[in-house]
Amino acid sequence: MTSSFSPLTDEQRRALVDAAAEARENAYAPYSKFTVGAAILTGSGAIFTGCNVESASYGATVCGERTAGVKAVSEGERRFDAVAVVTSNAATPCGICRQFLYEFGPDMWVIAADPQGKVSYEGPIKDLLPHGFGPAELAEGVEAAE
Ligand code: THU
Repeated sequence: MTSSFSPLTDEQRRALVDAAAEARENAYAPYSKFTVGAAILTGSGAIFTGCNVESASYGATVCGERTAGVKAVSEGERRFDAVAVVTSNAATPCGICRQFLYEFGPDMWVIAADPQGKVSYEGPIKDLLPHGFGPAELAEGVEAAE
Protein backbone atom coordinates (compact mmCIF):
# COMPACT_ATOMS: atom_id res chain seq x y z
CA MET A 1 0.00 0.00 0.00
CA THR A 2 1.31 3.44 -0.81
CA SER A 3 0.00 6.97 -0.36
CA SER A 4 0.21 9.26 -3.36
CA PHE A 5 0.96 12.48 -1.46
CA SER A 6 4.58 12.75 -0.38
CA PRO A 7 5.86 15.64 1.75
CA LEU A 8 9.34 14.99 0.33
CA THR A 9 10.84 16.42 -2.82
CA ASP A 10 11.99 13.84 -5.38
CA GLU A 11 15.55 14.75 -4.48
CA GLN A 12 15.02 14.25 -0.72
CA ARG A 13 13.27 10.98 -1.37
CA ARG A 14 16.06 9.66 -3.56
CA ALA A 15 18.76 10.84 -1.13
CA LEU A 16 17.02 9.10 1.76
CA VAL A 17 16.57 5.78 -0.03
CA ASP A 18 20.15 5.89 -1.34
CA ALA A 19 21.49 6.63 2.16
CA ALA A 20 19.54 3.71 3.60
CA ALA A 21 20.82 1.36 0.90
CA GLU A 22 24.38 2.45 1.58
CA ALA A 23 23.98 2.05 5.36
CA ARG A 24 22.71 -1.48 4.81
CA GLU A 25 26.16 -2.43 3.55
CA ASN A 26 27.44 -2.05 7.13
CA ALA A 27 24.79 -4.33 8.62
CA TYR A 28 26.11 -6.87 11.08
CA ALA A 29 23.72 -9.77 10.64
CA PRO A 30 25.71 -13.04 10.82
CA TYR A 31 22.81 -14.92 12.45
CA SER A 32 19.72 -13.94 10.46
CA LYS A 33 21.60 -12.87 7.30
CA PHE A 34 18.77 -10.33 6.93
CA THR A 35 20.45 -6.98 6.41
CA VAL A 36 18.68 -3.69 7.06
CA GLY A 37 19.63 -0.10 6.29
CA ALA A 38 17.75 2.96 7.48
CA ALA A 39 18.03 6.69 6.94
CA ILE A 40 16.14 9.33 8.91
CA LEU A 41 15.53 12.89 7.73
CA THR A 42 15.38 15.07 10.83
CA GLY A 43 13.78 18.43 11.53
CA SER A 44 17.10 20.18 10.97
CA GLY A 45 17.32 18.71 7.46
CA ALA A 46 20.14 16.31 8.33
CA ILE A 47 20.15 12.63 7.43
CA PHE A 48 21.18 10.03 10.01
CA THR A 49 21.77 6.46 8.91
CA GLY A 50 21.87 3.11 10.64
CA CYS A 51 21.99 -0.63 10.11
CA ASN A 52 20.95 -3.64 12.15
CA VAL A 53 23.54 -4.89 14.62
CA GLU A 54 22.99 -8.45 15.82
CA SER A 55 24.36 -10.17 18.91
CA ALA A 56 25.25 -13.74 19.80
CA SER A 57 22.74 -13.13 22.58
CA TYR A 58 19.99 -12.68 19.98
CA GLY A 59 17.72 -10.52 22.12
CA ALA A 60 20.40 -7.84 22.30
CA THR A 61 20.04 -7.19 18.56
CA VAL A 62 19.36 -3.60 17.52
CA CYS A 63 17.34 -2.89 14.37
CA GLY A 64 18.56 -0.53 11.67
CA GLU A 65 15.81 2.02 12.28
CA ARG A 66 16.63 2.29 15.96
CA THR A 67 20.37 2.54 15.27
CA ALA A 68 19.67 5.55 13.04
CA GLY A 69 17.23 7.06 15.54
CA VAL A 70 19.58 6.74 18.48
CA LYS A 71 22.36 8.34 16.46
CA ALA A 72 20.07 11.27 15.60
CA VAL A 73 18.75 11.89 19.10
CA SER A 74 22.20 11.56 20.65
CA GLU A 75 23.34 14.31 18.29
CA GLY A 76 20.60 16.65 19.52
CA GLU A 77 17.81 15.92 17.04
CA ARG A 78 14.27 15.74 18.39
CA ARG A 79 12.06 15.52 15.30
CA PHE A 80 11.98 12.88 12.60
CA ASP A 81 10.27 13.96 9.36
CA ALA A 82 10.89 10.86 7.24
CA VAL A 83 12.58 7.48 7.26
CA ALA A 84 13.65 5.15 4.46
CA VAL A 85 14.23 1.48 5.22
CA VAL A 86 15.96 -0.79 2.72
CA THR A 87 15.84 -4.59 2.92
CA SER A 88 16.01 -7.39 0.36
CA ASN A 89 12.22 -7.62 0.26
CA ALA A 90 11.20 -4.02 1.04
CA ALA A 91 9.95 -5.05 4.49
CA THR A 92 8.25 -2.45 6.67
CA PRO A 93 9.61 -1.55 10.14
CA CYS A 94 8.93 -4.00 12.97
CA GLY A 95 6.54 -3.15 15.78
CA ILE A 96 9.24 -2.05 18.21
CA CYS A 97 10.71 0.30 15.59
CA ARG A 98 7.29 1.75 14.73
CA GLN A 99 6.84 2.66 18.38
CA PHE A 100 10.38 4.00 18.70
CA LEU A 101 10.08 6.19 15.58
CA TYR A 102 6.61 7.48 16.54
CA GLU A 103 8.07 9.08 19.67
CA PHE A 104 9.99 11.61 17.57
CA GLY A 105 7.78 11.75 14.50
CA PRO A 106 4.06 11.08 14.84
CA ASP A 107 3.70 12.59 11.36
CA MET A 108 6.80 11.06 9.85
CA TRP A 109 6.80 9.73 6.31
CA VAL A 110 7.93 6.11 5.88
CA ILE A 111 9.40 4.56 2.73
CA ALA A 112 10.09 0.82 2.66
CA ALA A 113 12.15 -0.12 -0.38
CA ASP A 114 14.32 -2.90 -1.74
CA PRO A 115 17.85 -2.33 -3.12
CA GLN A 116 16.44 -1.89 -6.64
CA GLY A 117 14.21 0.91 -5.39
CA LYS A 118 10.98 -1.08 -5.47
CA VAL A 119 8.70 0.36 -2.78
CA SER A 120 6.28 -1.84 -0.81
CA TYR A 121 4.96 0.90 1.44
CA GLU A 122 5.13 4.66 1.34
CA GLY A 123 3.01 6.72 3.68
CA PRO A 124 2.65 8.15 7.16
CA ILE A 125 3.75 6.20 10.23
CA LYS A 126 0.23 6.71 11.61
CA ASP A 127 -0.99 4.15 9.07
CA LEU A 128 1.61 1.65 10.34
CA LEU A 129 0.85 2.38 14.00
CA PRO A 130 -2.85 3.27 14.20
CA HIS A 131 -3.98 4.92 17.45
CA GLY A 132 -0.33 5.13 18.47
CA PHE A 133 0.78 6.01 21.96
CA GLY A 134 3.29 8.85 22.07
CA PRO A 135 4.33 11.86 24.13
CA ALA A 136 1.01 13.61 23.51
CA GLU A 137 -0.87 10.75 25.15
CA LEU A 138 0.87 11.13 28.50
CA ALA A 139 -1.11 13.13 31.04
CA GLU A 140 1.90 15.32 31.69
CA GLY A 141 1.92 16.26 28.01
CA VAL A 142 5.60 15.45 27.61
CA GLU A 143 6.93 16.94 24.38
CA ALA A 144 9.44 14.95 22.34
CA ALA A 145 10.47 18.28 20.83
CA GLU A 146 11.61 19.70 24.18
N1 THU B 1 15.35 -5.89 11.69
C1 THU B 1 15.56 -4.55 11.52
O1 THU B 1 16.71 -4.09 11.51
N2 THU B 1 14.48 -3.75 11.39
C2 THU B 1 13.20 -4.19 11.36
O2 THU B 1 12.29 -3.37 11.32
C3 THU B 1 12.93 -5.61 11.33
C4 THU B 1 14.05 -6.50 11.74
C5 THU B 1 16.52 -6.77 11.83
C6 THU B 1 16.69 -7.39 13.19
C7 THU B 1 17.50 -8.62 12.85
O3 THU B 1 18.86 -8.27 12.81
C8 THU B 1 17.04 -9.01 11.46
O4 THU B 1 16.43 -7.84 10.93
C9 THU B 1 16.08 -10.16 11.42
O5 THU B 1 15.02 -9.95 12.28
